Amino acid sequence: MAVMAVVLAAGAGTRMKSNAPKILHDLAGLPLLQWVLDAIAPIPLDEVVVVVGHGAEEVEKILPVGVVPRLQDQQLGTGHALRAGLTGSQLAGQTVLVLPGDMPLLAGSTISELLAVHRESSAAATVLTAEIQPSDFGRILRNKAGDLVRIVEVRDADPDELAVREVNGGVYVFSGDLLGKALDELTTENAQGEYYLTDVIGLLAGAGHKVGTLVTDPVELTGVNSHQQLAVAAHLVRRRMNEEWLSEGVWMQDPDRVYIGARVRLSPGVRIYPDVHLEGTTAVGEDSILGPDVYALDTRIGVGSRVWYSVLRGSSVGDGAEVGPYASLRPGSVLEARSKLGTFVETKNTRLGEGAKVPHLAYMGDADIGAGANVGAGSITCNYDGVSKHHTKIGARAFIGSDTMLVAPVTIGDDAFTGAGSVITRDVSPGALAVERNEQKEIRDYAARVEARKKKKQKGE
Ligand code: UD1
Ligand code: CA
Repeated sequence: MAVMAVVLAAGAGTRMKSNAPKILHDLAGLPLLQWVLDAIAPIPLDEVVVVVGHGAEEVEKILPVGVVPRLQDQQLGTGHALRAGLTGSQLAGQTVLVLPGDMPLLAGSTISELLAVHRESSAAATVLTAEIQPSDFGRILRNKAGDLVRIVEVRDADPDELAVREVNGGVYVFSGDLLGKALDELTTENAQGEYYLTDVIGLLAGAGHKVGTLVTDPVELTGVNSHQQLAVAAHLVRRRMNEEWLSEGVWMQDPDRVYIGARVRLSPGVRIYPDVHLEGTTAVGEDSILGPDVYALDTRIGVGSRVWYSVLRGSSVGDGAEVGPYASLRPGSVLEARSKLGTFVETKNTRLGEGAKVPHLAYMGDADIGAGANVGAGSITCNYDGVSKHHTKIGARAFIGSDTMLVAPVTIGDDAFTGAGSVITRDVSPGALAVERNEQKEIRDYAARVEARKKKKQKGE
């Protein structure tokens, strides 16, 4: 039987007090909606529809290939949203899975189980529920026989109904044959004046059809309607992901202070100290040590490297390399194996060859630094002339003396030296020493002369 999924994501999310659509808010590196799409990705589905409305254009931009957006032009309630989502789809013989776009902790296995329960029970609908109290979720009302009769929203419930602990998760499976007619019968006669999808359940049950339920862990139903709830969800997601990394052989001194994005990859044996943020497509190889205090975005870190107190963006760190403390790798920084970038060093669009070192206080931009080269403290590539950027090439094993200004474009040959404090404006031949500075002069007995001047002043002469 064909199965389609409809994700309801048209709501404004007014409680976020934000211009961005609620479901585009970031949770561990992914928009809220992506978490739901990821959860259903392994399930064989014939069609996946996302109902868009508020911020539709922005939401459509993040939809994976194959996911169909359908517009709900006015947000008149969840029942109205599902109606929009089904436009143009053949309902007869179809199974329809409905999910909210704002429930990032839903597990794919739970959704699969809900589909299986539905299939086996030949019910008209099957609802995912949980035991939570108190909550703002709709309450599941059952008759004496224990059959689900209807769902009541908090704002429409009387005190007895509010006391019910079993709540509606907002995830449903419907048999398409009966769904269209029930959606047509919805009215807006309720406290919010909306077409409630929950009323479809009451209509089906009222017509004598069987409605099943699957009870799940309430944590999975953590919804995001406000920044408070987003923070709670982020905490839960982080805990769940970090637990998984621990079980894969990653060491964390304090898992509550490690922030790993959903698309990040870690290898066994990685060791992570507190306040490490790994984002985007960052990947870390075996036995590398990160932190304390690292921010890495879209950066590849090799095997057995050490990175601490540093910021890395769009960069690559080779095996056995050392970064920090207090290094900043801007996009295009490539550190080959066993190279070292030390304290207060900034790089941009720069390759550091195998075993090369820039240990302290330097800026290397648009540079290619050969294997085994050493760049002394205070050295800078003057890569920008106020109009264009220029390239610097430093040969293998070259020794750049402290405080060298490398005025690009310039090439330092293999095995060449530059004298400390030199402003290098011309290429340096391989093996040569280039020194550019004034002769040192000496004024003898200077201290005595200063002393004499001081005394003279004191006497008021
Ligand atoms: C809904 C349920 C409630 C359940 C809760 C679980 C109804 C009437 N109530 O309440 O019983 O406990 O979910 O989370 O269904 N949406 C649209 N178009 C609309 C309205 C909503 O696409 O016109 C989308 C929202 O973007 C959201 C989802 O539907 O992703 C749920 O809507 P929301 O307003 O958050 O419903 P709840 O009040 O949470
Ligand atoms: Ca909600």
